[in-house]
Amino acid sequence: MNYVRKIREDLYWVGASDRRIALFENAYPVPAGMAYNSYLLLDEKTVLFDTADRAVSEQYQENVAAILAGRKLDYLVVHHMEPDHCWAIGEMMRNYPEMKIVCTAAALKMIGQFFEIENVKERTMTVAEGDTLNTGNHQLTFVTAPMVHWPEVMVTYDVTTKTLFSADAFGSFGAINGNLYADEVNYEKDWLDDARRYYTNIVGKYGVQVQALLKKAAGLEIELVCPLHGLLWRENIGWFVEKYQKWSSYTPEEKGVVIAYASIYGNTENAANILAGMLADKGVRNIRVFDVSATHDSYILSEAFRLSHLVFASVTYNNGIFTNMENLLHHIAAHNLQNRTVALIQNGSWAPTSGKQMKEIVESMKNMTLLENMPTLKSSVKQEQLEELQALADAIVATM
Ligand code: FEO
Repeated sequence: MNYVRKIREDLYWVGASDRRIALFENAYPVPAGMAYNSYLLLDEKTVLFDTADRAVSEQYQENVAAILAGRKLDYLVVHHMEPDHCWAIGEMMRNYPEMKIVCTAAALKMIGQFFEIENVKERTMTVAEGDTLNTGNHQLTFVTAPMVHWPEVMVTYDVTTKTLFSADAFGSFGAINGNLYADEVNYEKDWLDDARRYYTNIVGKYGVQVQALLKKAAGLEIELVCPLHGLLWRENIGWFVEKYQKWSSYTPEEKGVVIAYASIYGNTENAANILAGMLADKGVRNIRVFDVSATHDSYILSEAFRLSHLVFASVTYNNGIFTNMENLLHHIAAHNLQNRTVALIQNGSWAPTSGKQMKEIVESMKNMTLLENMPTLKSSVKQEQLEELQALADAIVATM
């Protein structure tokens, strides 16, 4: 017995949350859990929007069956083929033999790749940009959204109720705790950091494609956004769209400095702390200091998307960059972050080379302004390095 949430007279949330999951995509820590949203429309035809992850598949199947209450399922709209949403397609096809899949041609190809099901083609209606489906009282329009977050992605706009089923867009990490709508919680305080970390790590690389979707969405009157993760939006949608505008155009939300350091015995950490103190004394607010050995890359990437200035301080390790710092820099480069002012600090007891190697990675990114000041520690901070750090603090403030 489950408690399935009603959104409108004929629309239900039939998703489920997983609080046992440690790493989403086996990569990103999700201490607040993860929600897999799916929606069921009971019109003259019944329409299910996406399925759910394997971890919650049993509950999801029960939810769908409970709401259908004996009715047959006519359509399964597949917006996205990542298995956190498509896992149950095979089971749904077996359980609902009359059900037709509605998806893009690219998604159909992926269904064949992921599943061993006969007659998939015959049971699929492929749709392209602007195609529509009338389900009785509702008119659904399909809008392609390639690379938000995979190439086969589309979203659905219900013209009748002005509802956007937005796939991965406008999602978040975090399980649903009863409240289903963003306006029912303190989103800025309790959800925004996880929404930003979700966007930047999952979709952050595809800013151009997200901008294209935002442009299409701007032409629609939207009263409700139903994403595949996190909370639904029915109020203040513009506020969240504005966040997406910033993130997808790689524009900092605020002025501020992320200082990420890799330190083995605390001397590089000391330089990072000294710089943070000097910046604070110069009136800088929004300073976030991270130990790359203690904080997962996904949190630092998210803050790097939020703030305008980035400082990377690394000890030299086996003649290279300390491994965690090297991973972080590659993680940031892989997610296409642009338009930031960057500074480097290096340390090395006999041959400091981490700065030169960090510089190469930063220079491979687009529109990064690398400050010339690069404080160099030979083991620990001395008077000379204090002066270099002071000069770096001045240079950062001058560019804010
Ligand atoms: Fe939530 Fe890209 O899947």
